[in-house]
Amino acid sequence: MEENNLRTLSVDIGGSGIKVIVLDTKGNPITERERLETPKPPKPKPVLDVITQLTASQGDYERVSVGFPGVVRQGTVETAVNLHPDWIGFDLATALSKNLKRPVRVVNDADMQGLGAITGKGVELVITLGTGFGSALFVDGKLLPNLEMGHHRFRKGESYEEQLGRVALEQVGHNKWNKRLGKAIASLYHLFNYDYLYIGGGEAKKINVDLPPNVKIIPNITGLLGGINLWRE
Ligand code: BGC
Repeated sequence: MEENNLRTLSVDIGGSGIKVIVLDTKGNPITERERLETPKPPKPKPVLDVITQLTASQGDYERVSVGFPGVVRQGTVETAVNLHPDWIGFDLATALSKNLKRPVRVVNDADMQGLGAITGKGVELVITLGTGFGSALFVDGKLLPNLEMGHHRFRKGESYEEQLGRVALEQVGHNKWNKRLGKAIASLYHLFNYDYLYIGGGEAKKINVDLPPNVKIIPNITGLLGGINLWRE
């Protein structure tokens, strides 16, 4: 297959769902997005099996991009707070590449989402609201990889993830969660003085707090669309 016809299977591994889509070289989707529940317990083997199962609906593709919900270094997982401890030290890129018989690149899920959202100008911060709290920071399009703001202290002795992750949303309800989100946005602006903040993730649709003009909600599919950028040198 010629370089300019390569199709990329993009995979988003989340705490509650695993999603796939195939992108053309420009990053446009050429298949319908498919989703399956994240298996329980979410150990490496069952998660890899779900990905293989999902590929059945996606036709052919030449390479694979994966967003993983934890710190990833050169294809190997270092943390997986919302999945399972068995992931720590697991070489996901190599294992998946063996299963799918295609080259595989893996990055943090919020980093992949950010790559699909940013304009490439100035300081751009991305946060994702789902099972966990993801974060990614870019300066003129250059990524600072594996920014793990979710596990940093936010307020009342709790981290951003403890205050704004899905467990918190279910415990405190939409109104309180939205109030907390407003405070988090203010706090993040003080810290980063970003030009833009993008908010993605499965729970972003629950946002009802007024957002400043430099804060934008991005659709959840951005997590998959960012996959094309892992192959742009
Ligand atoms: C993980 C991050 C991830 C985020 C969203 C956090 O718990 O530590 O790496 O980006 O959840 O999935």
